[in-house]
Amino acid sequence: MDDAQNIVGAAHDKIQHDSAVKHVTGKALYIDDMPSLPNTLQIVLVTSPLAHANIKSIDGSLALAEVGVVAVLTAKDIEGHNDIAPIFAGEPAIADKVAEYVGHPVAVVAAETYDQAFQAVKLVKVDYEELEPVLLIKDALAKEQFTYTPPTVTQGDPDKAMDAAAHRLQGEVACGGQDHFYLEANVALAVPGEDKDMMVYSSTQHPTEAQHGVSRVLGVPSNAVTVEVRRMGGAFGGKESQPTIIAALAALVASKTGQPAKLRLRRDADMIITGKRHDFEFDYDVGFDEEGRIEGIDIAMMMRSGNVADLSSGVLARSLCHGDNCYYLKNARFRGYPCKTNTVSNTAFRGFGGPQGMIVIETILEHIGHHLSKSLDEIRKINFYGTEDRNVTPYGQTITDNIIVELTDCLMGEINYEGRKKAIDKFNAENSTLKKGIAAMPVKFGISFNMPALNQAGALVHVYTDGSVHLNHGGTEMGQGLFTKVAQVVATAFQVDIDNIKISSTRTDKVPNTSATAASAGSDLNGMAAFDAANQIKARMVGVAARHFGASEDEIEFRQNRIYGGNESLSFAELAQKTWEARESLSATGFYQTPDLSWDPITCSGSPFYYFSYGVSISEVVIDTLTGESRTLRTDILQDCGKSLNPRVDYGQIEGAYVQGMGWLTSEELVWNDKGRLLTHGPSTYKIPGSRDVPPEFNIHILDDAPNRMPTIFRSKAIGEPPLMLAISVWLALRDAVKRSGDGTKLPKLNAPATPEAILKAVTEIRAVN
Ligand code: MTE
Ligand code: HPA
Ligand code: MOS
Repeated sequence: MDDAQNIVGAAHDKIQHDSAVKHVTGKALYIDDMPSLPNTLQIVLVTSPLAHANIKSIDGSLALAEVGVVAVLTAKDIEGHNDIAPIFAGEPAIADKVAEYVGHPVAVVAAETYDQAFQAVKLVKVDYEELEPVLLIKDALAKEQFTYTPPTVTQGDPDKAMDAAAHRLQGEVACGGQDHFYLEANVALAVPGEDKDMMVYSSTQHPTEAQHGVSRVLGVPSNAVTVEVRRMGGAFGGKESQPTIIAALAALVASKTGQPAKLRLRRDADMIITGKRHDFEFDYDVGFDEEGRIEGIDIAMMMRSGNVADLSSGVLARSLCHGDNCYYLKNARFRGYPCKTNTVSNTAFRGFGGPQGMIVIETILEHIGHHLSKSLDEIRKINFYGTEDRNVTPYGQTITDNIIVELTDCLMGEINYEGRKKAIDKFNAENSTLKKGIAAMPVKFGISFNMPALNQAGALVHVYTDGSVHLNHGGTEMGQGLFTKVAQVVATAFQVDIDNIKISSTRTDKVPNTSATAASAGSDLNGMAAFDAANQIKARMVGVAARHFGASEDEIEFRQNRIYGGNESLSFAELAQKTWEARESLSATGFYQTPDLSWDPITCSGSPFYYFSYGVSISEVVIDTLTGESRTLRTDILQDCGKSLNPRVDYGQIEGAYVQGMGWLTSEELVWNDKGRLLTHGPSTYKIPGSRDVPPEFNIHILDDAPNRMPTIFRSKAIGEPPLMLAISVWLALRDAVKRSGDGTKLPKLNAPATPEAILKAVTEIRAVN
C-alpha cells in the first residue's frame, strides 16, 4: 500500500482543496444558499430569559394570530420522544417542564418569512417560576451536582509517592471556554415527503445522529429519515451534537405543518443557544525529586458541563488521557468532575478536552521549574516519556511511537532557541515597558475516538461506464479537506486523475450508521473505507482485463488513466465499459474498523488510541506592561503528519488550528453575568483572532520522511486537532513575559485566556512590593 501513493495527474502536494475556488468566489453551496422550495417556513426559537425556571404554561395564541405565522409549537407537540441525548438519556430537544439556561429553547415559531417569525416570538407568553440557578463550577462542585458519575484515572500510588518525595507543591489554574464562531451558524432545512418520510439538510458533523434525533422526536423509524450535508461553513466540534437539536426542531415544524421548514440561527442566537468548549478549573498536588522528576501527582479537573451531559463524558475522558501530555507519571491520579451548571451545554471543540488536560500539566512543570530555579524546558526533559521504558500512560496504554525528544531537539536547534532566549534577556534588561517572553510546547495527541465503537467507517463507490467515478463516504466536509483527501485515495487506487472522481454529499441513505466526523480521524477512517470499496471494484476490473488481454491477473497494471496487460492497454473508461459488458458490478461498499482498541469507561483504562500525533511549537511574544496588550511576534512549528496525504491541506490545518488555539488562550473570553446571561454573544464583545493577530513570522514545517508506523491510509497521520494545542506555547510565553516583568522571584498569576486585562493585572501583582 505504501508505494501506492503515486497520484496521477497532479502530485499529491499540488492538489488543493476541491472547493478552494468555490469558497473564495462564493460559489460553494451552503444550506442557506439552496433554492427555496415553495411554502418553506422560517423558524425562530423562543428561548428562556432565566437560567433556571419551571415552565408553568406557554401561550402562543397572540403570536399565532399574527399575519404569516403558521405554527407555534412546544414540547407538548412532540409525538415521539423529546430526547436527543448523544450518550446518556434525558436531554430534550426543547425544554419541557424546566428551562435550564438562558437561551434554552422553550417554543418554536414558524412563519412565512423570517421577520414575521422574529417579531411573533415576542408575543409568545411563557409563565415561568424562577428557581435558584447554579452558575459557577465551584458551586456545582460544592453541591456535588454532576451530569454523570465523576471519572478518575489512576496509576501507581500517588499519595505514597508524594509523601515520600523530596519536594511537594500545590497550586491551581483555570482556562476559559470558547465559542466555535464558525462562519456558517447552525442551520437545518426539513422537507416532508410521502407517508412520514422526512428529508433533512443539516449543517452537521454527524448526519447519523441528526437522523436518530429526528426519528426519535417525530416517532418514526430511522428509515423514514434521510439527512444530507454537502459541506459545513466550519464546525470545529460545534456541529458534532448541537445540530441534532436544530434538525429535530426543523423536522418537528415540517412534520406538523406538512411544509418545508428552515431553522437558521442568527449569530447571537447561535452563540447564546448552542454549546461551547468546556472551561475548567484545576487544583494540583505534586511531589518531585531534587532534579524535578515527578514522583507522584494528583490533579482535580473541574469542568463546566453545562445543563446536560451531552458529549462531556468523552471530553473529560480525553482531558484525563491528556493530563500526561508528553510526560511519564508513574504515580498519578487525575480526578474529573463534570459540574452541572445552569449554562448552555458545553460540547465538543477542537481538541475535545485534550488542550485543557495539557494546560494543567504544563503549568505544573513550570511551577516545579520555578521552585528549583530551573527552566521549564529542563524540567520537561527530565520528565519526557521514554521509548523503551517509562512509556506507560496513567491510563495504561504503552506508547510505542514516541518521537517527542527528537522533534523538540530538532526545532530548538533549527531556530537557535538558546540564542533567542539570550537575546530576549538582553531586550528585557534594556526595556522596562515592553517585556518579551518565549516558550516551547511539545504535544502528544491520541488519535481515535476514545470510545472504541465509534472507530468505524463506511464508503460507497460507483464507477460508471464512461470511467467517471462517484465517491461517497460517511465523513463530512467542514473545510478541513477530508473530501479532497478521500478523493485522492480513490484516484490513487484506480490510478486515474483526481478530476475523474465526483465528490458527493454525505447522506444517511448512502452510507448508514456512521460516526461523527471528529477526533481528527476522518481521513484515517473514511480514507480506509473508500480504499476498501475502490479495491473491491478494482479486483473485478482486473479480472475482466486479464481475460480481455489473455494475461494473468498479476500482469495487469493500472497506470495514468490506463490499464496495461501484456503489450496492450485500455483506457480506464474502456475497461469500465467492458466490466459492465461482462456483467460484473462496478459498485461497492467499503468498510473499516480501527484495530486493537480498548477502553473501560469505569476504570478509565485501556489502549484507546491507535497511535499518537506529535508536534512542537516555539512562540515569542511581547507584552506592554502599561496596557496589558500582547503580540505574538514569531512562531515556529514542527508537526508530524506521518506521510501527509496532502501537505497543502495539512499546512492550512496547522495554521488554522494554531491561530484558533491562540484565540482561545488570549482574546476569546466568554462572560456571563450573575443571572447566567451570556454578555459576549457577538463579534463586538467576543474577540476571535483577526488576520493581524497571526504571528508576522510564522514558520511551519511538516516533519519529513515520517511515515506512520501503524498501517493507516498510505501511512498518513491525523492533523485536524493536534496543532491547536501548539498554541499553548503562546500562553506559556505570555506567562514568561509577565514573570520577567517582575524581579523573577514570583510565579505569575495568569489563567487562560490571557486577555490584556488579565495580563495587566498579573503584571501589577508581580510588580507589587511584598
Ligand atoms: N478545519 C476547518 N477548516 N473547519 C473545521 O470545522 N474542524 C476541526 C478540524 N479541522 C475543522 C477543521 C475538528 S474539531 C476536527 S475533529 C477535524 O477537523 C475533523 O475532520 P478530520 O477528522 O477530517 O480531520
Ligand atoms: N473526539 C471527538 N468526538 C468524540 C470523541 C473524541 O475523542 N469521543 C467521542 N466523541
Ligand atoms: Mo472535533 S472537536 O473532534 O469535532
